[in-house]
Amino acid sequence: MPSVYIKTYGCQMNERDSEAVAAQLVTKGYTLAPSETLADVILLNTCSVRDFAEQKAIGKMQNIAAETRRARPGVVLGFMGCMAQSRGRELIDQLPDVDLVLGTQKFHRAGDYLDEILAGRRKQIVDVAEESGSEATIREHLLNGSAKKSVSAFVSIMQGCNQYCTFCIVPYTRGEERSRTIPDIVAECRQLVAAGVREITLLGQIVNSFAKRDIPVRDGLSAFVQLLEAVHAIDGLERIRFTSPHPKGYGDDLIAAYARLPKLCESAHLPLQSGSDRILKLMHRGYTRERFATIIQKLRAARPNVGITTDIIVGFPGETDADFAQTLELCREVRFDNAFIFKYSERRDTPAAAMPDQVPQEVREQRNAALLELINGIGREKYDAYVGQTVQILVEGPSKKNAARLTGRTRCNKIVLFEGADRHLGQLMDLKITRTGSFTLYGDPAIVNL
Ligand code: SAH
Ligand code: F3S
Repeated sequence: MPSVYIKTYGCQMNERDSEAVAAQLVTKGYTLAPSETLADVILLNTCSVRDFAEQKAIGKMQNIAAETRRARPGVVLGFMGCMAQSRGRELIDQLPDVDLVLGTQKFHRAGDYLDEILAGRRKQIVDVAEESGSEATIREHLLNGSAKKSVSAFVSIMQGCNQYCTFCIVPYTRGEERSRTIPDIVAECRQLVAAGVREITLLGQIVNSFAKRDIPVRDGLSAFVQLLEAVHAIDGLERIRFTSPHPKGYGDDLIAAYARLPKLCESAHLPLQSGSDRILKLMHRGYTRERFATIIQKLRAARPNVGITTDIIVGFPGETDADFAQTLELCREVRFDNAFIFKYSERRDTPAAAMPDQVPQEVREQRNAALLELINGIGREKYDAYVGQTVQILVEGPSKKNAARLTGRTRCNKIVLFEGADRHLGQLMDLKITRTGSFTLYGDPAIVNL
């Protein structure tokens, strides 16, 4: 049987989609190649959120094509995911060596299409059509791949986005918002837990919009909180996370869920994008800085030590020094544990790309550097405060950088490295933090009770 190598760019949804495709192919008998140089099928699962991510994947495919086409002409090359969806056949026109272009609603067809290409029945396949029901097709998991995968799993609860933030390409690449049903999601979670998973992260572009048109509010609980309750009731599951909620529509029922549901980990990724009301409006975000700050206050009241991370865009069209100063000020006020900072990138066909007053590249760079310095400084103080504390971690597996160390996450979603033993794998354990690195904690299980 052939071997496959999948390289993933971008977000956790993409990681999850790649895992589902890999698992689908393994079920058909494929093996997973450790690198592209050995694989019979090479798939790049792409990201379109910024131009940089697209150029990286295109450059990578050019290199792979140049190498494999000479030495191993039979290797099948494919693009999947967001860039495959937005560019479609254009990718094959640009890179004629590419055999497969698979859109975001077609991951479940990967196996069939590869069969046809490998058997020589079809030469090149492009499928970026919409498919109703595709939101429920991302379900296979690779549980025996690594220790990391088997204790912690992602579950996709919905696809698409209807918010149309003016900078964002996702509504075009991922389509209309479509949610799975609660019983379907719970059944998948139950299977994962039966297979040894202890932590589940529910994934969607705006999770708090989950099924809001399909499932009515019940006893004051939105559909998403009803889903959280149903997942929470699964015996043997220890930890629940979700990403990402949107500040718009972040209801008090969700805050109350943090106070009520002990398995819900005290960590939250809440994308801010900007601290200026004027820019938030131009972005079509649907909330103000005050509303954002209020959500954070309420979350902290419900769970005082909640770890909070965010996404921020610098250099959105029309962003002045005064607007940017408001972002800095809000970050000083909120004190995020960490933030992903993005330099605004024009995406074709999005309204922001045609807005006046595009910010010069060097100003985007300067604002990026200034915000990074602030975020890193606050992050360092927050991480340093952990030294001497005992935290609970779920041990995921060996650290990527140093296989002699194990890695796990605290309930607040901070990575902890420690020198452990095989018997710690997959365990929930307490350890004492001895020192910190850059957005990393180091712990020692031996001194937990001292
Ligand atoms: N709803 C998703 C967001 C997906 S895009 C979520 O909350 O998980 C992920 C992040 O990429 C966004 O939060 C935003 O900060 C950034 N982003 C999106 N479009 C961008 C663009 N055109 N330029 C720069 N950053 C962008
Ligand atoms: Fe993109 Fe805004 Fe949706 S950032 S994914 S359009 S919530």
